[in-house]
Amino acid sequence: MGLMSGKNVVIFGVANKRSIAWGIAQALHREGARLALNYQNERMEESVRKLAAELPGDTFLAPCDVTVPGDIDKFFGRLGKEFGPLDGLVHSIAFAKREELGGSFADTSWDGYAMAQQVSAWSLIGLVKGALPLMEGRDASVVCLTYYGAEKVVQNYNVMGVAKAALECSTRYLANDVGPRGVRVNAISAGPIKTVSAMGVSDFGSLLDTMAQKAPLRRNVDQGDVGNTAAFLLSNLARGITGQTIYVDAGYSILGL
Ligand SMILES: NC(=O)c1ccc[n+]([C@@H]2O[C@H](COP(=O)([O-])OP(=O)(O)OC[C@H]3O[C@@H](n4cnc5c(N)ncnc54)[C@H](O)[C@@H]3O)[C@@H](O)[C@H]2O)c1
Repeated sequence: MGLMSGKNVVIFGVANKRSIAWGIAQALHREGARLALNYQNERMEESVRKLAAELPGDTFLAPCDVTVPGDIDKFFGRLGKEFGPLDGLVHSIAFAKREELGGSFADTSWDGYAMAQQVSAWSLIGLVKGALPLMEGRDASVVCLTYYGAEKVVQNYNVMGVAKAALECSTRYLANDVGPRGVRVNAISAGPIKTVSAMGVSDFGSLLDTMAQKAPLRRNVDQGDVGNTAAFLLSNLARGITGQTIYVDAGYSILGL
């Protein structure tokens, strides 16, 4: 019996095989969960559909762009009818314009700031609100993905650092809000992993190199490391944990100099 046997989980953020969300989907599938996935738009549908086909079982798929008015409600309306109640939700989505992920932080535009906040932080609130009627009273668990640049200055991470700070704080406010209804909310702070989104951060390669040289475990983490921790947080083993940011970073965040 897997850790997630008999559990229904929706995952937002699979785009391709490098996506952290795909690592999470594989871990949850291995542990026996039944899965639902979104795809952001028609352009991404084929790639997500192909990946979903690699998971034996009846994976639910539907579009959802968190910036399109009505998309979140439509998604959960269909999910409730065609997939059923939910025991878990994974938020693994973020976006900032490439020009905001490098250069001077003082040049951050309002448009760029607002876009990063809407997609990367507000969307957690929107998705939890949409999912709540399907999760209420089921000991459900929500997991989102954050990065150390929320707390400390990481060169070039810029506007995304501010969005991740909002995401981590929203995790705590949501945990307090939905806890009485039996829903836990936690964040995983993952070390740098080479994905399409990550490559948008200027000089991302040097984050990977620094981490592998300096982290206590002297290596980078991967999608499998994050997937396993997400499976733990979504499972009943973590039933006493909520509102926390859990580091999956080979220990990098404990270092001073
Ligand atoms: N890769 C890293 O180094 C790293 C480290 C820590 C945290 N994270 C976080 O992990 C999460 C997943 O990122 P990833 O690195 O796997 O990259 P990715 O590019 O594979 O995933 C990003 C996802 O966000 C989705 N997305 C973007 N805008 C959207 C919108 N408007 N509506 C719906 N979905 C939208 C994309 O479709 C994509 O699936 C993000 O929150 C990211 O900030 C990544």
